[in-house]
Amino acid sequence: MTIGIDKIGFATSQYVLKMKDLAAARGEDPEKFSKGLMLDALSIAPITDDIITLAASAAEEILTDEDKELIDMVIVATESSVDQSKAAAVYIHQLLGIQPFARSIEMKEACYSATAALNYAKLHVEKHPQSRVLVLASDIAKYGINTPGESTQGAGSVAMLIKKDPNILILHDETLAQTRDIMDFWRPNYSTTPYVNGIYSTKQYLDLLKTTWTEYQKRFETSLADFAAFCFHLPFPKLALKGFNKIMDKTLSSPVQEKLRANFEASILYSQQIGNIYTGSLFLGLLSLLENSRHLSAGDNIALFSYGSGAVAEIFTGTLAEGFKEQLLSNRLESLAQRSPLSVAEYEKMFFEEAALDESGSASFDHYKTGPFALKKITEHQRIYGEAND
Ligand code: CAA
Repeated sequence: MTIGIDKIGFATSQYVLKMKDLAAARGEDPEKFSKGLMLDALSIAPITDDIITLAASAAEEILTDEDKELIDMVIVATESSVDQSKAAAVYIHQLLGIQPFARSIEMKEACYSATAALNYAKLHVEKHPQSRVLVLASDIAKYGINTPGESTQGAGSVAMLIKKDPNILILHDETLAQTRDIMDFWRPNYSTTPYVNGIYSTKQYLDLLKTTWTEYQKRFETSLADFAAFCFHLPFPKLALKGFNKIMDKTLSSPVQEKLRANFEASILYSQQIGNIYTGSLFLGLLSLLENSRHLSAGDNIALFSYGSGAVAEIFTGTLAEGFKEQLLSNRLESLAQRSPLSVAEYEKMFFEEAALDESGSASFDHYKTGPFALKKITEHQRIYGEAND
């Protein structure tokens, strides 16, 4: 039996901040962002679009009524949770109308946890072959105004349906994780934005990549020559490019190296327009690769590098299924171009707006554009979600 990713959906916010505008406002050379980080734009979410509405929108893009009857587990991977107790997956299960006899949970380890969620989903389907599992990687990456991380913010969710006989990516059993207790990026409960040792975090990312990949090749007797593409966690595309250069095997023939490089370039296109979406970034890279590469065929192997600060990394692999292209969109970059551009002043107000709770713990919001679902209001500390057009 093969198990893996059957469908991939994606949602981001309806507003965008152009890096050139941020550079002008912060007195930076625009090339620092366009070349130094390789970013063009960041998705900016209003208060009515959070990890729950974005994840539900990403799933709504791909799920059929049959899927909703057969899904028996919903897992949300996030590091920008809206509640310390209730799982985001419970709200999403309800918004999507998934049959009631399902398990709904949230998982955390910085940007890594969607990889653990995929692994759990795969093990679940191995035991229960008729099951379908919905894995949602959903985050809003917020560092704060005028911080070093401000240029690497973003918002978005990736939804993946895991089942047997998948139509996109057959997941392999060979995976290798590495844990290293470091303080590169963390967010204590009392803080709305993370603490970051930026340069240190980039060095750790690259070192965990190198050491995990070296051990992976040794344990599973494989090498880069066995893969058509390598996807990376994408806090910003330039770091992934450094990772790509680190794992490149210069003994491979030029055409093989060129194909790997062209596939790498296809994998960063969406991130360049969206910014960091933490747990979803690696899978947004996979989606970008699949929807934009002209150098992939069924049967090709893909390697994926997952990294979550703190830190846990994992390398896992898969094989492209027959007909994978039929599951994908060809116009996603055009729809990203439809987002409403914000001035820097508008971004500062919108992205950092906090709910103004009254004495009963209730709040209402101005109207903002969202996808199919929105946070409608807060009533006595309860978040009330619904369809955006209600
Ligand atoms: N033209 C072209 N390039 C320029 C330039 C110019 N005018 N000015 C600067 N640059 C280049 C720099 O040379 C540098 O490139 P190299 O690294 O190749 O030398 C790049 O632009 C960035 O410049 P700085 O290092 O000076 O930028 P910075 O001080 O703004 O910090 C950062 C960059 C540390 C990544 C910061 O954005 C940050 O802290 N981000 C958040 C943390 C992060 O994303 N870490 C990644 C690893 S952790 C992780 O992966 C988990 C996660 O998702 C958070």
